[in-house]
Amino acid sequence: MSISDKRIFITGGAGFIGSRLALRLIADGAQVTVLDNFHPQAHEGNPDNRASLNVDGITVVEADVCDAAALQAAMKAAQPHIVFHLAAETGTGQSFDLPTRYCNVNVIGTTTLIEAIRATGGVERVIVAGSRSVYGEGACVDADGLPAAALERDPADLKNGDFAPKDRHGRSLTPVPTAAASCPVAPASIYASSKLMQEYLLTQAFWGTDVEVGILRLQNVYGPGQSLNNPYTGVLSIFARQIQEGKTLEIYEDGVITRDFVLVDDVARAFQMMAAADQMPKGIVDIGAGSGASILDVARMMLVAFGESPDKLRITGAFRPGDIRYGVADISRAAELLKWEPAMDLKEGLEKLVLWSSQQFHETTAG
Ligand SMILES: NC(=O)c1ccc[n+]([C@@H]2O[C@H](COP(=O)([O-])OP(=O)(O)OC[C@H]3O[C@@H](n4cnc5c(N)ncnc54)[C@H](O)[C@@H]3O)[C@@H](O)[C@H]2O)c1
Repeated sequence: MSISDKRIFITGGAGFIGSRLALRLIADGAQVTVLDNFHPQAHEGNPDNRASLNVDGITVVEADVCDAAALQAAMKAAQPHIVFHLAAETGTGQSFDLPTRYCNVNVIGTTTLIEAIRATGGVERVIVAGSRSVYGEGACVDADGLPAAALERDPADLKNGDFAPKDRHGRSLTPVPTAAASCPVAPASIYASSKLMQEYLLTQAFWGTDVEVGILRLQNVYGPGQSLNNPYTGVLSIFARQIQEGKTLEIYEDGVITRDFVLVDDVARAFQMMAAADQMPKGIVDIGAGSGASILDVARMMLVAFGESPDKLRITGAFRPGDIRYGVADISRAAELLKWEPAMDLKEGLEKLVLWSSQQFHETTAG
């Protein structure tokens, strides 16, 4: 399907992922409206994403997704065919401290969006940025290689330095790449629960209507444009800042926490392909690199990329509520139905992040 004649509305479209998506869509000839409240946590000291939207083809509306009147007015003016829902509170750790704020924006923001879509009419597709956090520990196999459900890890085990996910009999399990079709949801944080609600609410609200709902469950998105100041942002941006401040990196647990890091440009392309697909994949599509890197390895890679010793780190054994041991996507569904696969490997992606973050850091510290 061509999107050159489509009108597209992106909540949270001035953010890290949304701003790159908006630029891709106008390059395809679409008309884009971005609604964003410029949340200080995402935008303070990080002006480039907002500034990049100052181009023909993009209309920016500064408003809160929970403000029903503002959202409906913006949507009525935009008359979109396609809506991307990216506006969210995004910090896993912070969600424990601010549960009402997280649920207001992520849950009530979504129901407010549903009502605005219904009031406007004419919307063909809604595509939401889901999160792999809804899986909790994710897919695992037992000692015989058979699928087994992992429970949330027990703080008593973690205190004893036993970090492996376990089944209900206390047997250690081996994590494997996770796909929505074979792994039940088990959110382990308030952020994750609120992200799951977004998926449920949109699917339920438009069930049996002409509005198609698409869900991309994203792994750890990284790259240029991710706030270096936000303490609740992705781990690679936090490392980038700490390395440039001359700090020793603190690595949780035993360093073997494993994540699937996917570059922001690849993720924006996946959203663009959902909009353009002749037949949008039904249900959930997992998006990630499809391979994992341990936090210890990635910290060393970043230290080296910044010209530092790979040993300028400390494995602390500390652990955090809501942290899972291993998160890697099985991206076979994205490859099959969307013909999407990541274009950038971790080493090249990290070089991009390092280059961008050193420019940002020098601009801030020189200013
Ligand atoms: N970055 C990741 O690793 C990752 C992983 C999984 C899912 N996601 C999801 O992707 C989406 C985009 O995340 P991102 O990484 O670009 O984060 P981001 O913080 O850069 O972008 C979110 C945008 O939403 C805006 N926003 C926040 N609250 C709002 C509100 N109440 N009203 C209007 N706008 C509001 C922010 O100002 C920001 O521009 C989010 O829904 C997030 O949950 C991101």
